[in-house]
Amino acid sequence: MIAPSILSADFARLADEIAAVDGEPGRRADWLHVDVMDAHFVPNLTLGLPVVESLLKVTDIPVDCHLMIEDPDRWAIGYAEAGSYNVTVHVEAAKDPIALAKNLRSAGAKAGLSIKPGTPLEPYVDVLKHYDTLLVMSVEPGFGGQKFIADVLDKVRKAREMVDTGHLNLVVEIDGGINADTIEQAAEAGVDCFVAGSAVYGAEDPSRAVEALRATAAP
Ligand code: DX5
Ligand code: ZN
Repeated sequence: MIAPSILSADFARLADEIAAVDGEPGRRADWLHVDVMDAHFVPNLTLGLPVVESLLKVTDIPVDCHLMIEDPDRWAIGYAEAGSYNVTVHVEAAKDPIALAKNLRSAGAKAGLSIKPGTPLEPYVDVLKHYDTLLVMSVEPGFGGQKFIADVLDKVRKAREMVDTGHLNLVVEIDGGINADTIEQAAEAGVDCFVAGSAVYGAEDPSRAVEALRATAAP
């Protein structure tokens, strides 16, 4: 699956930018990745719930909210209640990630847990039993257009193995620095869903970029 990140889109034309990846099958985004940043958990500020509510009205693509915010225990539920398909919180920010996952699921969303590049996977394996998505960050969260950190692929391989052996039931998603040069190694490590910001919205034709990334990931 390919999840274009609107962080690299033109924020003055968001509906058009979403429509650009909402076209014919093969070129259509599987998920639409929306980066919510609060200038506290990460040193950048993007958008919040009112914008997400408006985006949900203009697309049928499942919306994948990536909350890079403090206190997700309090704020994440609103994104689920608004109708997001998947709501991902950071394990480094969540106080009670198991209760949080239950709340997100009760509100009708898939629950996602994200880990920064320096955060190990092992301590959270039991927590991940309560989640539907694992978002492995392959850059330090905060900005688009950064260089892919290949070291995180070890965590992807471990997660893939636990999913394949039935220990976990997760979509393995990767975020940061995914492009034509890096997507193949991520696919080989076992990623199910690839977030791509600059590689999609920096391209002349975003829908062709989605198609090309998908073809490279799964030739
Ligand atoms: C970074 C965000 C990413 C970002 C990825 O903190 O979580 O979703 O949009 O951008 P690229 O694909 O350009 O690295
Ligand atoms: Zn993201």
